[in-house]
Amino acid sequence: MSPDPQAIRQRLRLSLLDWYDKAARDLPWRVAPADRQRGHAPDPYHVWLSEIMLQQTTVVTVKPYFETFLRKFPRLEDLASAPLDQVLGLWAGLGYYARARNLHAGAKALASRSTFPRDVAGLLEIPGIGPYTAAAVAAIAFDQPVVPVDGNVERVLSRLWKIDQALPAAKPVFRTQAAKLADPHRPGDFAQALMDLGAGVCTPRKPNCLICPLQDLCQAYQADEAESYPKKQSKKAKPRRFGWAYVIVTPDGLVVRRRPDRGLLGGMLEIPGSAWHDDPTQATFAPPHWLGLEHRWVYGENIRHVFTHFDLQVCVAATRILHRIELPDHQVLALSETGAAALPRVMRKIIDSGLEALKAHQGG
Ligand code: ADE
Ligand code: SF4
Repeated sequence: MSPDPQAIRQRLRLSLLDWYDKAARDLPWRVAPADRQRGHAPDPYHVWLSEIMLQQTTVVTVKPYFETFLRKFPRLEDLASAPLDQVLGLWAGLGYYARARNLHAGAKALASRSTFPRDVAGLLEIPGIGPYTAAAVAAIAFDQPVVPVDGNVERVLSRLWKIDQALPAAKPVFRTQAAKLADPHRPGDFAQALMDLGAGVCTPRKPNCLICPLQDLCQAYQADEAESYPKKQSKKAKPRRFGWAYVIVTPDGLVVRRRPDRGLLGGMLEIPGSAWHDDPTQATFAPPHWLGLEHRWVYGENIRHVFTHFDLQVCVAATRILHRIELPDHQVLALSETGAAALPRVMRKIIDSGLEALKAHQGG
């Protein structure tokens, strides 16, 4: 007699929820399972904010940002009415800056409605909310019976059911499997339990099967093949790009400019530099013409930065100028303000490299 898939899924839900009741992570946006069962509902604003921040970013990185945002913007309306520059500034360092603009646009859209959308279809209408985030918010904030599917959930599912189809092509298969798994009684806790299991137990390398609540149901574990799931299509090597950056220190601070609103790091501040070329021979030392000649340049350590679609390598040159100059389309940022400015991580690395080099060449 073949096992009844419905019955297996039900056992799985109960085992996972039972584990979650004891082992749930304590996260600032989360309502603990015991409190939830006593009727404490999570604040949809908190859930939405955390899910936007958690897109492509780890829990550890997000925590302090989430707390800062809630301190500055205790209510959705506070975020919606804040200047975009303030939001971008507070976001600096979290990466994927389109999310910060979307967060702001999303806050405005949400604040203009009489109620927070409660289901996936309604949530998908809000800027910045894609299928994963819509499902996560619907499940966690409103207990809709849906399962958000990200890489963690795909990994757990691939191992549980020993799914041999390779990702990303097989994404629809995983979505179908996940949808069947939603817990009808505690969908929010179930979604979060899957996230916690993927983050802490069913990890990419060396999963902790021995302490896993799903061990006796898990087909990859039974076959002693957990680590060879999920199957992945072979992928091309990431392209590299090359450029120069010019760290220019004036009597008033650092010369920076604002990137165009659209595209990579949209609207963030940057250090002046060359375009980023695929061909390293195109990336040549050519400091901004408005600086004039006659500057003594020092060279910092090259920096590398990993973006989603390419790896960047930047050569860093730095100079100190002793007089004030005209700066077409640029601004000066006091060195004491770089911490609070809307500077992406890659630019902070460039600044550190340039300032280090200047210091080394001046003996402090
Ligand atoms: N990753 C994405 N959403 C999450 C959440 N709500 N809790 C923990 N990790 C997550
Ligand atoms: Fe993952 Fe191992 Fe648990 Fe299976 S038994 S779900 S592979 S941790």
